[in-house]
Amino acid sequence: MKLIHDSIPCLLHLLLLAELFVPSSSRPANTSSLCTMFGPMIHQGEKLVQVSKTLHGLPENHKLLNTVGNKLQDLPHMQHTAAHFKSLKLNESLSQLCLFTQSFRLHMDWLKTEKHNFSLPSETAEDASTQLLLLSTLLNKSLQQIGEDAPRPPAPSLPVVSSAFDLLQFSIEISQRLQVFGHWSKRVLHSLKRRSGCRRH
Ligand SMILES: *[C@@H]1O[C@H](CO)[C@@H](O)[C@H](O)[C@H]1NC(C)=O
Ligand SMILES: *[C@@H]1O[C@H](CO)[C@@H](O)[C@H](O)[C@H]1NC(C)=O
Ligand SMILES: *[C@@H]1O[C@H](CO)[C@@H](O)[C@H](O)[C@H]1NC(C)=O
Ligand SMILES: *[C@@H]1O[C@H](CO)[C@@H](O)[C@H](O)[C@H]1NC(C)=O
Repeated sequence: MKLIHDSIPCLLHLLLLAELFVPSSSRPANTSSLCTMFGPMIHQGEKLVQVSKTLHGLPENHKLLNTVGNKLQDLPHMQHTAAHFKSLKLNESLSQLCLFTQSFRLHMDWLKTEKHNFSLPSETAEDASTQLLLLSTLLNKSLQQIGEDAPRPPAPSLPVVSSAFDLLQFSIEISQRLQVFGHWSKRVLHSLKRRSGCRRH
């Protein structure tokens, strides 16, 4: 009995020591665990490019696809200037990506509901929404790793849809903007990955 009693404080001591070592030993894993997030996030960006092409259900060369709609005022606007890409900061860029992704998802869920309301197939919108959710989850985790909270977007203002043709135009607008966003997010993420000193593989 005496022996066991004596060994308990000893065990506690060891446990305490182990706890002390955990934070310091996890420090190198910090950037490298962030580094493991970029690959899957870039992959999701590519997924968005792919799903955006099927969202409106029109063939790739349909003439309606040339109409550039601009009616959904709260769809995110991406900046493509070289200056923008040069000035990227990890915290701010990940936050912005997270915000944009969630905003697209809110638009996508709206599109899904509207398509449903007009008895149109809504699977593609549902699929896009799922891909967006995956990306925002990865972004949220990445933000947690640098000690930032994920931002929440305000509810977008969305128009009343009065006809199936209206709806088709909205889905073209969303799909075009989503495609731009997919390419843009890949570019931003590649750049952030490089800046964070992550190794290529
Ligand atoms: C982001 O990080 C930079 C330093 O890299 C800092 O100057 C800036 O204030 C941070 N921005 C936010 C919004 O926390
Ligand atoms: C879908 O239709 C229902 C019933 O017709 C309506 O109450 C609802 O507001 C519509 N949803 C949207 C997002 O317009
Ligand atoms: C990871 O490192 C950053 C600085 O590079 C630090 O701000 C952040 O708190 C660290 N996160 C964890 C979980 O240790
Ligand atoms: C980010 O993740 C945390 C923890 O999983 C969750 O509580 C929070 O709601 C998420 N934020 C967003 C904006 O999704």
